[in-house]
Amino acid sequence: MPQDLFDAALPPEAAHQQLAPGAVLLHGFARDMDAALLQAIEAVITQAPLRHMQTPGGYTMSVATTNCGSLGWVSDSHGYRYAVLDPQNGTPWPAMPACFLDLAGRAAAKAGYDHFAPESCLINTYLPGAKLSLHQDKDEKDLSAPIVSVSLGLPAVFLFGTPNRKDRAQRYRLVHGDVVVWGGPSRLAFHGVMPLADGAHALLGRRRINLTFRSPLDKLAQS
Ligand code: SIN
Ligand code: FE2
Repeated sequence: MPQDLFDAALPPEAAHQQLAPGAVLLHGFARDMDAALLQAIEAVITQAPLRHMQTPGGYTMSVATTNCGSLGWVSDSHGYRYAVLDPQNGTPWPAMPACFLDLAGRAAAKAGYDHFAPESCLINTYLPGAKLSLHQDKDEKDLSAPIVSVSLGLPAVFLFGTPNRKDRAQRYRLVHGDVVVWGGPSRLAFHGVMPLADGAHALLGRRRINLTFRSPLDKLAQS
């Protein structure tokens, strides 16, 4: 049976939606492992607490952030960068939980990116009103690797455009368990999150959590 007919026969939450060349929304892809993910998130947050980072421009981010993996994304008055140590306590970020790596690798492969082994997972927590302005993920040396972004908790309106800031971004509703993967021609696409609407999620209450898996290391330079 052709793959598209097979997909059409699946329940809607299992469908894949192409957002742009190289960018796919995998509806509900992470839903069946949400309990394991939430347990792992709690363990990471216990070791590396959530904090509101400062932007280089002097603003305080409305999302509360932490990381796991061998490298963590940090922002402060000096700029954006990846750091081996959590600047808050000077110790390495918590290890990447096995269920995170498994999910990121499977989602990337489903979207057409094989062998994705991210060194970094950014955990962003949104309370009602929190948002993320349009930006590009461009602090990574390895732009051949995709970005894998997992949504948990309250629904959000995700903005996704092109690598050109002038192009208008499209809006997509992301719900608990949705995974967006972007790479290739969309790797530097502008994206963001509209202010989170208030609500109550059965597992997460008034919160949305986003996991962003990235591969900051330049694999070619290492080999
Ligand atoms: C991000 O761009 O880092 C997060 C996107 C999201 O929260 O969905
Ligand atoms: Fe981003």
